[in-house]
Parts: sequence; structure tokens; C-alpha cells
Amino acid sequence: MDTLNIDISKVLEFLLVKDIAKYQEEIDEHHEALMKKTGKGSDFLGWVNLPSSITDEQLTELETAAARMRQLAEVFVVIGIGGSYLGAKAVIDGLSHHFTDLLSKEQRQAPLVVFAGQNLCSDYHADLFDILKDRDYAVAVISKSGTTTEPAVAFRLLREDLEKRYGKAGAKERIIAVTDPSSGALRQMAQQEGYQNFGIPPDVGGRFSVLTPVGLLPIAVAGFNIRKLVEGARAMEKRSQLTSNLYDNPVSMYAAVRNALYKRGKNIEVLASYHPRLHYLVEWWKQLYGESEGKDGKAIFPVGVGFTSDLHSLGQLIQDGERNLFETVLAVGKPRRHLAIPTDGQDLDKLNYLAGRQMHEVNRMAEKGTLLAHVEGNVPNILIEVPELNEYTFGQLFYFFEKACAISGYILGINPFDQPGVEAYKVNMFALLGKAGYEKLAADLRAKL
Ligand code: PA5
Repeated sequence: MDTLNIDISKVLEFLLVKDIAKYQEEIDEHHEALMKKTGKGSDFLGWVNLPSSITDEQLTELETAAARMRQLAEVFVVIGIGGSYLGAKAVIDGLSHHFTDLLSKEQRQAPLVVFAGQNLCSDYHADLFDILKDRDYAVAVISKSGTTTEPAVAFRLLREDLEKRYGKAGAKERIIAVTDPSSGALRQMAQQEGYQNFGIPPDVGGRFSVLTPVGLLPIAVAGFNIRKLVEGARAMEKRSQLTSNLYDNPVSMYAAVRNALYKRGKNIEVLASYHPRLHYLVEWWKQLYGESEGKDGKAIFPVGVGFTSDLHSLGQLIQDGERNLFETVLAVGKPRRHLAIPTDGQDLDKLNYLAGRQMHEVNRMAEKGTLLAHVEGNVPNILIEVPELNEYTFGQLFYFFEKACAISGYILGINPFDQPGVEAYKVNMFALLGKAGYEKLAADLRAKL
């Protein structure tokens, strides 16, 4: 079966079965609160039934827009930050050739998708203009609020460039806006300028929005099958609704175990993958859990590592440092491509014992060996495995982590769907930049600098 599995056997050396089972009743209530929309942040539960409610017409509309962009552009720039880019980046990196930017147009068979407005670095954006200079490009500007500074700055820069190159009408053809269906500066701009646009359901927050046009449009432009992605998410939606029983529902089990470990002082979760292509899925997970759970003085701090690379950097700390962490390994059953290790007549590198074996097998043994070493070093381990990486399994992973995050946040007693803490840097930045209305704060801050 093409399905996600969870294995908690390497947690049971650290927790008693009853330590986990005691969450059952509470988890049943939280599942019900999500379904009946009675829990904290219930205005933001549109993601719960999102996979099963996406219609064929909506998918066709996205595919048609994506096909138009694929015709027009050699490079497709996705402008967005946080939840408005990480999900798309996770799938595109997760399923593309690792060296996709070095492939020819013909080899790639889709525009090169690049990202902007996910930082305020002028070097990054100036370099982006270098690669756009001699290439036809188009843009998706994605911001739910429509007012976030980073994407707004990037859009202003790119819009000016597009209008210079293609004229106002040509630029209009090359811009798609994805934003709130009725409010915000970007919505207003899209209406005024006549950009093609897609709405983000008001009850779906940024970090839960990958299965809306926020994620689906860029993923379709990059040439991936958004129907399979939604199908995978639907399968997990259905599976996680059948029962909230810990032993039949991986969502419940993951939420229970991480909270049981947290109660035992394990306040850092390290999500490890052995595949560079999963780097941005881990980044997406970090945002989902960090922004959802880190509030009211509580949090399981989410850290991402890429093994085996990071075994040569953070491996020492994980094996031997302060024992306040647990590890979740995101394992993949089989690779997308196979590579066997060759025999060498001289065997100077002493690797002939591996000759003829698959590189993936070596990676898996590194994974299993590391897991046992870390457990031995008092790091509890949760294993989440998908049989392979494709659109369907990405869909499952997204929904799995989203729902587990909501339940886990409810167990922590916080509202997983707001992010009040994110405002603090913004108001200081506005004040320091001289935005009207922030004069008093600006004076206070300058005195402190
Ligand atoms: O999860 C969230 O709500 C945030 O991370 C947002 O996605 C992020 O701040 C971007 O916001 P917006 O889409 O409004 O530009």
C-alpha cells in the first residue's frame, strides 16, 4: 500500500505504554473539536476538509492557468513568504531533478520555478534579476493578507521590471495574484490591474494553505500532478477521520508521543531526513510546528537536519549533548533512481565489500545504524515512513503533519492557528523605517540602538 506509517517502537524504551495511552481520551475530544469546530481558533479550520472539498473545476482552473504560464515563461517567479511559499517549494524541490537549474529547457519540460520575497536581501533579488534578464518570465504573487512587507517589496520590483519589458498589458498577462478573496492591498491591486487571480479561503491560515492555490498553482506550473497530491491528502483525511484511536490513526499517535516526550523534558524535536530533496519539506514542517505551537511560554522546538551530511556537524550534539531532544526520522522506502556501487580491481578505498550494492541500501543502513546509536545515546526515536516520494505521498505527509499539529497544539493548550508573536518584529521594522503612525515607537527604539 502506498501509505504512510508510523513506528514508535524506539520510543518505548523511554515511555511506558500507559504514558502514551493516557492521551487517548483527550485526543478523542480534540478530534471531535476539529470536526465540530468547537476548539481554539475554530475560524481557521478550513483545511480540515479541504482535500475532500476541492472540486474538479477548481483543479481544472488551476491546471489551465498553469498551462498558460508554462507557455509564456521560461522562468516562473513565485513571490511569497512563510506559508505562502514553503509548501510549494517542498513539493517542487522534493520531486524535481536535484540540478534542475542546470538542465536545458527541453530536459526540464517546464519553467524553472524560483522564489522571491521570502527574504529582504538585496543581493538575492539583484541576482534574481540577472537570471531573468535574458529569459521570458512570469510571476505568481502570493500573500493571504496582501500586505506582508517582504513579498510586497519583491512584487513592486518585479512588476516594475515586467512593465518595462512587456508593457502594462504584457505584464498583466504574466502576473497571477493569489490572495484573500475580498480584502487586502493585493486583492485591490489585482482587481484594479485586472490580473488573473485565485482566492485563498479565509478560514485557511498560511501554514495550512499548501492545498489551496497557494501551493497548487506553483506545483502545477512546475509540471507536477496536483490531482495526485490532492488524492494523497484525501486518503489521509479519510484515514484520520475513521477513528481517533492511537493505534489505528498515525495522526493521534504522533501527537500523543511528542507530547508525552515533552512532558518528560524533551522539548526539542529533531526532524531528520536522509534525502536532500526533503530539505524544504522539513522547512515547511518547522514553520508549521514552530509558528503553531510556540506560544504562551510553551513549545516543542522544531529543528531540521539533513543526514548523513549533518551527522558530520550536529551528529555529535545529538549523540552526546544535553539530553533534552527526541528525533523523528522521515524515511523513504525506495528512491526515485537507483545507483549501484561499482567493483574496483585495486580496492584501495576498501569499498569492495559494497560492490554491486545499491547506494540507497547504504543510505538505509546509515539511517538504521544512526537510529540505534541515537536511541542508545538516550534520544527517543519516532519513525515516519512513506514507501516512496511522489505527489500522492506528499499529499499524505502534508495532511498528516497538519492534523497532528492541530491535535498536538490542542494538547499543549494553545491556539495552533494564530501567530501573535510574529507582529513584534514587524512593528519595530516599520518604526525604524519611518512608517507613518510609528513615530513614538521609532524614538524609543532609536534610543535603545
Ligand atoms: O502561517 C502563516 O500565517 C504565516 O506564516 C504566513 O503564511 C506568512 O506570514 C505570509 O503571510 P501572507 O500570505 O499574508 O503574506
